[in-house]
Amino acid sequence: MSKFIIQGQTKLSGEITVKGAKNSALKIIPASILSSETISLKNLPHIEDIKKSLELLADLGAVIKEEDEQISISCRNLNTTDLNPNLANKFRASIMFVGPLLARFKQVSFPHPGGCVIGAGGRPIDLFIEGFQAFGADIKVEDGLYKLKAKKIKACQHFFPLISVTATETFIMTAILAEGTTTLYNCAMEPEIKALTDYLNKCGAKIRGAGTPTITITGVNQISAGEFTVIPDRIETGSFAIMAAITKSKLIINNCIPEHILALLTILKKIGINYQINNNSLTILPNKNFRAHDIKTHEYPGFPTDLQSPYTVLMTQANGKSLIHETIYNRRLLFVDMLSQMGADIVMCDPHRVVIHGPTPLIGKQLTSPDLRAGIAMIIAAMVAQGKTEIDNIYQIDRGYEKIDQRLSAIGVNIQRNS
Ligand code: EPZ
Repeated sequence: MSKFIIQGQTKLSGEITVKGAKNSALKIIPASILSSETISLKNLPHIEDIKKSLELLADLGAVIKEEDEQISISCRNLNTTDLNPNLANKFRASIMFVGPLLARFKQVSFPHPGGCVIGAGGRPIDLFIEGFQAFGADIKVEDGLYKLKAKKIKACQHFFPLISVTATETFIMTAILAEGTTTLYNCAMEPEIKALTDYLNKCGAKIRGAGTPTITITGVNQISAGEFTVIPDRIETGSFAIMAAITKSKLIINNCIPEHILALLTILKKIGINYQINNNSLTILPNKNFRAHDIKTHEYPGFPTDLQSPYTVLMTQANGKSLIHETIYNRRLLFVDMLSQMGADIVMCDPHRVVIHGPTPLIGKQLTSPDLRAGIAMIIAAMVAQGKTEIDNIYQIDRGYEKIDQRLSAIGVNIQRNS
């Protein structure tokens, strides 16, 4: 199994460029199903989950052409609405195909989506089942597959009992071709949702309120297709900022949107990490030492759960005591056990809260990456640890960070990929 080998005590320098946002690209690919015209995508990150998403779309019969850094997709003639279980159960975002298929073809079958271990009980999809029923779909479960059929997609007033990013995106796309006007309440407000709706409106959809808790969609008969450039990945941006902070380095982070990580930047400033913003680049300035600060993860624009793991590692090197409260996922703090093995002073109060006393020296260890964000957090820990760290199961890291070893080597990290 491939692994990363990292020599610690790192100093970073130079510049790094942020890639396209995984959690935007994973929605625009299935969104291509909504139109019979050809969509062209730019700035897609070259990562495992995107490869899987394109494979799944091709399996449905889409025509996909890759030329230079641009991908064109035609879903004019799909030959099935059944998601291939062997492909769809490998990644959580396969769920994003269901809404568009139901909206355009009034039927779809799919397996329980795959996904990493951060959600207890295998990442529930109750919000999706309830939502599809609200839009008039009949749902059967046969041979381990969910089978949805709808005579027509009925516009509705739907309140999300939990704020869910992918559920918000799914039902925006389900409602676009419905008869009548849908109102979605208690929606997620992540920037990737606004990027998706801006594109769909350019193609003739009628969506209002993206980026706020209430979104209305007036159904249309069809939409066209056009060009979509994936926005910079705010979680990559924040991860690189934390790398610079913890190694007390100066680092220029290019092609980013700093306002998308204001929750993190506000805290970095408070704890003594200074930075400069210059249009779409963020420079983290070197620091001597920095203070501890509590965080509580929250839906956007609050502190993102996807930056909790890197921030937790940062706090092991901060002066003082910090409380990390992970409110979104049940298992996203389980990786702290590995930080303790490296020498961190962490007490788990309950599955959602840990208290960290810093700074403590970290010692390089053999680690396994349980999920994507814990994986990058281990790389960050290895960068400041004494000695060598080995991280296996790096497939989890490759899922979300393009060529991460090459890009980190270029800014001073001693990291080798051992296939
Ligand atoms: C999106 O996941 C992101 N993934 C996640 O990023 C991100 O952590 C999460 O939003 C929160 O910001 C993509 O966009 C592909 P949720 P999503 O539905 O939409 C519970 C990463 O590392 N829930 O907002 O799947 C769920 O268990 C990934 O890039 C239900 O209970 O997350 C969680 O506790 C990880 N029932 C909460 O809602 C459901 O049917 C929020 O999950 C669906 C979700």
